[in-house]
Amino acid sequence: MSVSFDIQPNPGARSDAEVAEILASPGFGVYFTDHMVSITWTKGQGWHSATVKPYGPLTLDPSAAVLHYGQEIFEGMKAYRHADGSVHLFRPNMNAARFNRSAARMMLPNLPEELFVEAVRQLVQIDARYVPEAAGEHSLYIRPFMIASEAFLGVRAAEEVTFLVIASPVGPYFTEGVKGVDIWITDEWARAGEGGTGNAKCGGNYAASLIAQYEGYEHGCTQVMFIEATGKDRVEELGGMNVFLVSADNELVTPALSGTILDGITRDSILKVGEQQGLTPVERRLSAQEVLDGIADGTFTEAFCCGTAAVISPIAGFKSKKGEWRPQGQAFERTIQIRDGVLDIQYGRAEDSFGWLDKVA
Ligand SMILES: Cc1ncc(COP(=O)(O)O)c(C=O)c1O
Repeated sequence: MSVSFDIQPNPGARSDAEVAEILASPGFGVYFTDHMVSITWTKGQGWHSATVKPYGPLTLDPSAAVLHYGQEIFEGMKAYRHADGSVHLFRPNMNAARFNRSAARMMLPNLPEELFVEAVRQLVQIDARYVPEAAGEHSLYIRPFMIASEAFLGVRAAEEVTFLVIASPVGPYFTEGVKGVDIWITDEWARAGEGGTGNAKCGGNYAASLIAQYEGYEHGCTQVMFIEATGKDRVEELGGMNVFLVSADNELVTPALSGTILDGITRDSILKVGEQQGLTPVERRLSAQEVLDGIADGTFTEAFCCGTAAVISPIAGFKSKKGEWRPQGQAFERTIQIRDGVLDIQYGRAEDSFGWLDKVA
């Protein structure tokens, strides 16, 4: 398929001084670049009208299906600046492939992987000055998303859909940094169930997780860990991250992809980098009781959570209504080693032996 992009530069683009001011203290997801990408899909015509245009509000009919039935999916990825000034995406085809798996689940049209990646490249190239220097793990967070933009009030797959890409320069996601975060284990709220949308990256999953997230905040925790909806035992993932444990005998353990959790690209990368560092990657069923008992008796020495936004964050402790469990390894040695291993590839400080980087600028 060949779709050419109509490039409409933003006449009101920020000055270099304004961009520098934003990059000095970007926060997370607060500032957006000068442009966005938009591509339309209509039944019969397919994908068309690919445009790079000034970032700005969308015009949506109030009856647009996404506003009523939540037919929407998104991705999260980053562009990294290397010391030589070049800019790289990290495994963008994994995002493109996952986007299409989400699209299939939500009855949205397939977006050819090369068009997804090209749209991201177009935005990063035109707004490359917003990709921060690597210092302090700053990067350009990229948010591709697809919405049912058809004006129609009826529960069926939309016949007009819009794909958009926006980008935001970001600093660290957690202000706690590598000090470690506390995780709340909710026994009341579920994120996903068998046959549901847990392994799709759709907005509704995140709206549904907020109540548990706020329960976690009330208990002084930064994130919440979900247990399977039925059975109340199998560990799934956090609201926006996958979870790992490191055992005393050097196993790197994470819940198997059960269909109810998101198959994180960071998760997959950690399994490979961890193995390269001498750990044994294990994807299996993990019971919450086993995790907590294992922390208490020293079987599991470290725990961490991971995702594109926060990279890898050590877990200082788990809390639930029943108590508090703190892994012995509060120096997070293994976690930091894996974290550095992944970051060093992303920022070009280590050899990209897996061929994960895609140079864009
Ligand atoms: C629910 C959930 N799990 C896991 C992840 C981690 O996925 P990735 O490593 O691809 O960012 C994310 C973030 O996208 C997420 O939202």
